Amino acid sequence: MSAPHTSVLLDEVIAALEPAPGKLIVDGTFGAGGYSRAFLATGADVVAFDRDPSARKFAEGLGERFRLVDGRFSQMADELGEGVADGVALDLGVSSMQLDQAERGFSFMRDGPLDMRMGADGPTAADIVNTAEQAELARIFYVYGEERQSRRVASFIVRRRAEQPFTRTLDLAEVIERALGGRRGAKVHPATRSFQGLRIAVNEELSELEAGLIAAERVLKPGGRLAVVTFHSLEDRIAKAFFTERAGRTPGGSRHAPPVEAGAPPSFQLLFNGARAPGETETATNPRARSAKLRVGVRTSAPVWKEAA
Ligand SMILES: C[S@@+](CC[C@H](N)C(=O)[O-])C[C@H]1O[C@@H](n2cnc3c(N)ncnc32)[C@H](O)[C@@H]1O
Repeated sequence: MSAPHTSVLLDEVIAALEPAPGKLIVDGTFGAGGYSRAFLATGADVVAFDRDPSARKFAEGLGERFRLVDGRFSQMADELGEGVADGVALDLGVSSMQLDQAERGFSFMRDGPLDMRMGADGPTAADIVNTAEQAELARIFYVYGEERQSRRVASFIVRRRAEQPFTRTLDLAEVIERALGGRRGAKVHPATRSFQGLRIAVNEELSELEAGLIAAERVLKPGGRLAVVTFHSLEDRIAKAFFTERAGRTPGGSRHAPPVEAGAPPSFQLLFNGARAPGETETATNPRARSAKLRVGVRTSAPVWKEAA
């Protein structure tokens, strides 16, 4: 039985987005609906997105001011139109329900099929692990998992799959553990980073985040607010680069965000400088909150930035 998902940084997101009667808030990552329920409780209208069709069971009884779209948050502007929303929330990553259900294949602690897809389409983790070139696997572990011994992990996997392809999470976790020389008293499981890398690759999470930020820029009204909650440095770097660039603070552009039009007027202002982290009470009661960071931008009346061709 999976534990219920506890929303992270909920009070801070509510304070940032200021939902109220007559306002439209887009919850780009519905999950168990913790944010959506809190937005609805203020009297706001809410349109939520989740790429995982199984999130729909949490949408029952949310009433007439609520609608859930089964889809990716990068589609929000195509779905809703431009300049219509007062707030957008993106609470990234996987939910506790997804992590805890062994059959979804996200966990190196519980045995399950090597899947890791948040949605129902596209290649699974097993497809990638069993067919990607060794160099591509190493890149996934290094870039998306920040695994320093990525080449060694990839070479152990390629050697093993030649004899027997991978189908189960625990089998893969054991091979990764062996590649890294066992646990040696490490605080985190040795497979943590490689599993993160695979999950990001399977779900194309970073390109989806970049597209989602641009979609939020389109969907927001002037004065509307975008709150982004990230859980690791790769996500946070993308959110930071987007906001500093759109606020006109990085004339040279960034390594992560796609190249953009030079000299366009700022389409966002920062609500506060830098990122906010949860307080001690929240991190003590919710371990998932420990790495969370919140960044918030306020949409200006400037046009949406054109992405350079
Ligand atoms: C951390 S949970 C959100 C939890 C939610 N804020 C709550 O309070 O219950 C993230 C959810 O976003 C969904 N998700 C992740 N990336 C997505 C994307 N690109 N488009 C739509 N949904 C996405 C996942 O399927 C997952 O259900």
